[in-house]
Amino acid sequence: MYLIESEENVGFLTASYVKNRIEAFITTPEKPYFVIALPTGGTSLDLYNHLVKFHKEGLLKFDNVVTFNLDEYIGLPAKHPESYHSFMARNFFDHIKIPQEQVNILNGNASDLEKECRLYEEKIKHYGGIDLFLGGIGQNGHIAFNEPGSSFSSRTRIVNLSEDTIKANSRFFNGDISLVPSRALSMGLGTIMESKEVIIMATGIKKAQALYHAFEDKTNTAWPITILQKHPRVFVLADKPAASEISKTIKQNYGLCSFIK
Ligand code: GLP
Repeated sequence: MYLIESEENVGFLTASYVKNRIEAFITTPEKPYFVIALPTGGTSLDLYNHLVKFHKEGLLKFDNVVTFNLDEYIGLPAKHPESYHSFMARNFFDHIKIPQEQVNILNGNASDLEKECRLYEEKIKHYGGIDLFLGGIGQNGHIAFNEPGSSFSSRTRIVNLSEDTIKANSRFFNGDISLVPSRALSMGLGTIMESKEVIIMATGIKKAQALYHAFEDKTNTAWPITILQKHPRVFVLADKPAASEISKTIKQNYGLCSFIK
């Protein structure tokens, strides 16, 4: 796990990395698509702004990219402004050219939710797994909607949102926790761990405690992010406030890597 503490814009750095990876990808008959897992949430807005900018400048194309979103609320109409379908359309897909069939977002209104999850896993496998996982982090250390207590071997499934998450996400629902769905579909930690590379973006002081655990704690289910310590290639991109609880020694040990050449 590498820590990249950045004065620069975390979204810009991540977008640049994504661009480099897509450019470097060589399509073959066995592996025609580069597979990216995409997050939602406030932290990711900057990433999408920069990806759209690169695309509009003609520097980035998505013809050979397949995307899988990390999660979606259960029972919120796809057209609801706070559904992750709407979020993705508004902030990304409406502004880029990508074939519709290369975009995958879990359907939180499917009549058979378990089947929806199973098919999602099968589809990810069909495309050869996730090449690049992009995620944020919850204040309680969740990744996607894998809340504290989630099994490290979990797959895409129905999850109950924790009180912390409902409270944190109520800011998108006029601050009214009763409007936040209490359940969601989410990729599992097992699904995420099979990704070839992982990037976690964290900004702001509210993420400082979660990042402290990510780097200084033992791997434990109370802080789902700690599972990433066992992944061979993880970059955590953090701004100064988010990285402020991580000790100097840890920063020296984990911080040495070249991220973008
Ligand atoms: C939601 C998403 C997570 C995301 C988290 C952080 O709970 N399901 O995938 O990491 O929000 O959101 P924000 O970036 O708004 O703090």
